[in-house]
Amino acid sequence: MFFSLAATLATVAAVAQAGNIIPITVGAGGKTVYSPNNVNASVGDTVVFSFGAPNAASNHTVTQSTLKSPCEPVAGGFDSGWVEIANTSTAPAPTFNLTITNASVPIWFFCKQLKSPVGKPHCELDMVGVINLGAASFDAFTSAAVAATAVGQEQGGLSGLNALATALPAAQGSGQSVIVGATGTAAGSAGGSQSSGTSSGAPASTNTHSGAMNSRAGGVVSIMAGLAAVAMML
Ligand SMILES: *[C@@H]1O[C@H](CO)[C@@H](O)[C@H](O)[C@H]1NC(C)=O
Ligand SMILES: *[C@@H]1O[C@H](CO)[C@@H](O)[C@H](O)[C@H]1NC(C)=O
Ligand SMILES: *[C@@H]1O[C@H](CO)[C@@H](O)[C@H](O)[C@H]1NC(C)=O
Ligand SMILES: *[C@@H]1O[C@H](CO)[C@@H](O)[C@H](O)[C@H]1NC(C)=O
Ligand SMILES: *[C@@H]1O[C@H](CO)[C@@H](O)[C@H](O)[C@H]1NC(C)=O
Repeated sequence: MFFSLAATLATVAAVAQAGNIIPITVGAGGKTVYSPNNVNASVGDTVVFSFGAPNAASNHTVTQSTLKSPCEPVAGGFDSGWVEIANTSTAPAPTFNLTITNASVPIWFFCKQLKSPVGKPHCELDMVGVINLGAASFDAFTSAAVAATAVGQEQGGLSGLNALATALPAAQGSGQSVIVGATGTAAGSAGGSQSSGTSSGAPASTNTHSGAMNSRAGGVVSIMAGLAAVAMML
């Protein structure tokens, strides 16, 4: 088991080095959008999601879903956790890197953030995207997202279906933090099943970077002064 996992990771790492980098920005300029939101990637390519920074407040996730349920985490799917960026942060953008392991099926994703200035979850504001659309309909996906009545909050894994990440996003400097773990129920009825052991109703882990200080505290939310501004905006 251990050796086979190690071998798999070594293979993926080798493939990842050989592949292309495909960049997608998350919430750049304070907008609830992935840009671009529709990309193609081959096996071994790495899609690099860059969160928000600099100079715009944001608080987003990259969470795997399905064409049928665009705003519900899929069992076994990837999830970056919430990446909070204060509008005062000038540090480089935190990244979430997904190496593609199967390019023959679409990989759907959404932002599971419920709070927004206009009172709607980000998924219902069309904050969704796809890798390798193929013959599927992107319009059908975005229409279903906008029409969704609930947005699932379950925490997904580091790796997902048909794509593999080896590290969660990490704060790159002052005014940034990453929260991994379920933080409560979705607006309305969530419907989906809890898919991880971290659905305690409180963040399972918070990783905050404040200048030279980097703290990790299970079950404890530690929010910096600068991030209070994000809460007000979202
Ligand atoms: C992805 O590849 C398909 C098939 O080659 C092509 O039709 C489509 O335009 C490509 N999508 C993007 C976003 O480049
Ligand atoms: C990719 O996923 C599809 C659908 O699950 C499956 O039929 C196919 O065998 C997979 N390809 C590889 C190379 O694993
Ligand atoms: C993602 O990839 C970029 C570019 O290769 C790298 O700089 C960054 O550290 C990676 N992020 C993570 C979380 O591994
Ligand atoms: C950050 O957001 C707060 C709250 O909305 C606002 O008062 C402040 O002016 C913003 N700062 C910058 C640098 O945009
Ligand atoms: C970011 O979003 C999560 C989930 O909604 C929330 O728990 C957290 O307080 C937010 N952070 C800020 C700074 O608003």
